[in-house]
Amino acid sequence: MLDVQNTSQPVVTRRADYTAPAWLVPEIALDFDLDPRRTRVRARLNVARNGAHDAPLRLDGDGLAPLAVRVDGVDADWRMDGATLEIALSGDAHEVETEVEIAPERNTQLMGLYASGGNLCTQCEAEGFRRITFFPDRPDVLTRYQVKLTAEKARYPVLLANGDPVASGDLDDGRHWAEWHDPFPKPCYLFALIAGDLAANRDTFTTRSGRDVEVAIWVRERDLAKTDHALHALKTAMAWDERVYGREYDLDVFNIVAVDDFNFGAMENKGLNIFNSRYILADPDTATDHDYDAIAAVVAHEYFHNWSGNRITCRDWFQLSLKEGFTVYRDQKFSADQGSAAVKRIEDVRTLRAAQFPEDAGPLAHPVRPDSYIEISNFYTATIYNKGAELIGMMATILGAEKFRRATDLYFDRFDGTAATCEDFVSCMEEAGEVDLTRFRRWYSQAGTPRVTARLVHEAGSGRAMLTLRQTMAPTPGQPVKEPMVVPLTVKLFGADSGREVAPEQLVLLSEPESEIAFESVGERPILSINRGFSAPVVVETDRSAADLGFLSGHDDDPFARYEAMQQLMLDTLVSSVQRGRGDHAPVIDAVRQTLLDGDLDSAFIAEAVLLPSDSFIGDQMAVVDPDAIFRAREALRRDLGRELEGEWREAYEAALANRFEYSPAAKGARRLKNVALGYINASGAPDAASLAFVQFEQADNMTDRQGALATLASGTSDKRVAALDIFYNRYSDNALVLDKWFATQALSSRDDTAQAVEELSRHKDFTLANPNRARSLIGAFAMNQRAFHDAAGRGYRFVADQLIALDKLNPQTAAKLLPPLGRWRRFDKDRAALMRAELERIVATPGLSKDMFEQASKSLD
Ligand code: PHE
Ligand code: ZN
Repeated sequence: MLDVQNTSQPVVTRRADYTAPAWLVPEIALDFDLDPRRTRVRARLNVARNGAHDAPLRLDGDGLAPLAVRVDGVDADWRMDGATLEIALSGDAHEVETEVEIAPERNTQLMGLYASGGNLCTQCEAEGFRRITFFPDRPDVLTRYQVKLTAEKARYPVLLANGDPVASGDLDDGRHWAEWHDPFPKPCYLFALIAGDLAANRDTFTTRSGRDVEVAIWVRERDLAKTDHALHALKTAMAWDERVYGREYDLDVFNIVAVDDFNFGAMENKGLNIFNSRYILADPDTATDHDYDAIAAVVAHEYFHNWSGNRITCRDWFQLSLKEGFTVYRDQKFSADQGSAAVKRIEDVRTLRAAQFPEDAGPLAHPVRPDSYIEISNFYTATIYNKGAELIGMMATILGAEKFRRATDLYFDRFDGTAATCEDFVSCMEEAGEVDLTRFRRWYSQAGTPRVTARLVHEAGSGRAMLTLRQTMAPTPGQPVKEPMVVPLTVKLFGADSGREVAPEQLVLLSEPESEIAFESVGERPILSINRGFSAPVVVETDRSAADLGFLSGHDDDPFARYEAMQQLMLDTLVSSVQRGRGDHAPVIDAVRQTLLDGDLDSAFIAEAVLLPSDSFIGDQMAVVDPDAIFRAREALRRDLGRELEGEWREAYEAALANRFEYSPAAKGARRLKNVALGYINASGAPDAASLAFVQFEQADNMTDRQGALATLASGTSDKRVAALDIFYNRYSDNALVLDKWFATQALSSRDDTAQAVEELSRHKDFTLANPNRARSLIGAFAMNQRAFHDAAGRGYRFVADQLIALDKLNPQTAAKLLPPLGRWRRFDKDRAALMRAELERIVATPGLSKDMFEQASKSLD
């Protein structure tokens, strides 16, 4: 770790140092006198000594000063130890009261109690509760909450908190109050309140045991019409969790509130989920199909947390993946059940490869169960979430569906009402699954992506085929030497002549550095299909020829494996183009044609399969990333695919043209393929391509088509480009979520002047760093645009660093999340690497830097 003058020595928290809390808090009564400028918070805690010790009560605080401290009704002695309130207590149980004042409208971090769009709301995970009141802010202190909210009635007619409403009333002075009671003990990170001028879309869900639950989605009155999709998703998710996991909802009400200013996607506060409005609001005119899907997934995710997260929570933050990995796994399966499971799997793997593999290969690599952190907010990562979900998926594969369900039943049953660990979860898998997962546990402790090489050798004479598998894993920070992992690989062989199965699918558990699998009576030369369904989150290297990959892309009976074969063929071609200046495009063109014309495939799958790997994924395959060469190679292949298959693209395009908007898997698939086809027609250089896009842009009856056309135009040079951007801006200038798309589309443009355009957009009157969605739509999107961000003169690096330094002063959490692209300097040539390092050093040297940014930037320099 770098030692810097201006940062007070960062405190490292270590998993190995865990000790049980000295004091428990079985009950709390909270009384809020709400006001944006000064909110008074009174807290009455019933505290109980936990075990035999004489340690004082220590209550976490952040930016709080006690106005009063009473123990059992009398003013008590207390002292501040830094931000922590320390009170010496003589007995084993006491009533401790504190009083503080906070200013929600000055809270730009969006942690604790803050103002958003005229409403007051909270965000407490991971350590925001200590910004509201003094409390042992750790997930293993479970407390029953009683909450009273008082606020001006005209301004805040709706007052919500966790649990069930118990009483409410009006006061003489124009204020009113409401009391909420949550019967389930919970950690304070699940606390929430909302005071606002909100309208509800209400419904009733009857649980399978016959309990009626009042469900409601709260938004601004004018957004009410955009909440039906989320409400429908919620009820579908509630029924799904009953059917698939046997989990019922447990309170009389379930409220969801949408707010515009939010650091993450959404938050699973008990009975009162708070959402970033982008994961609630949808109508055909303003939300894409992707938005609709994401809304359903996030609504389901937060709902599923009621069991995997709330009823069973985490003992400490190192166990974060216990709730997040499992809940992502659950929401992924839920989404798969709503439409095409194959397409969903492809999307999930694409996300993993785009976000998690680079993390695992870079300076911020960490295990799914980390060993230490400076700032826990930095660990809400693709590793914890998406790789964590893959770990659950691998255990489900190893156990099989029936035993997996038995194991989750055991887990929910055994640990209900407790704060548990990843180890608790795995031990349930082991016990109910009747398997030994000793070595599998390395997936929790070792960072990095395993690499498996597979070599298949066939002896025609004996009919024997030998598959040799070897695994390796590169060192990661703090883990120079890796132990072999347990890698579940589904494998199948096809005959090169007959095209038929010559060895049925089997699950191979690779647990040694090297292992050999023999297949008998294989009469013809076999073609290897491996890691089918992406059974393990690993990189598989094979020596399969372009012809064999072409065969699999057209004939494998596992749709994921078909997609994967096509991707591999495209990658091989592109990497060889980059390295040797040219590659043979013909096999890719043939395979794409074959897929496009396959009448048995649905449009959604075709659209995914024919897409080229992204610039950054191509870069991930190379020792030194050359952004310009990658861009040229990819564009050349796109152009050839566009030209050679122009007739096919036009047919696919026209076939989907007449559809009216409908949100169904088939209609979504048609739109997806239509927009992919539009992109290829455009890449072909056809003279009418821009007008085709412009007509689509103008005539679209939905945002998927409108934004698809806009994206095509925004990357081009036609005279329609500026017109379309202006029309789009004017049409949606009062809709923040759509303006985010307007910014992001330009930041993702493949034009040569994108870096400059983005700098100008950062001075646009609608750009602000204060809103995380807006900041991400420009800065985050731009940093994903490999060629533009990695401008050889360092312009992109400087711009992003400037923005992050400014953002850090307002909202360190959101700033730190956007830093990782700057930290990948090791993957680039030495000139770029030096420029990137210089910006990281500038960030680390910034006076007053947050610990969030310090951790990300200093670790990236190491
Ligand atoms: N726990 C939230 C989820 O379901 C994420 C989150 C973390 C939200 C921290 C806000 C703050 O994924
Ligand atoms: Zn979650």
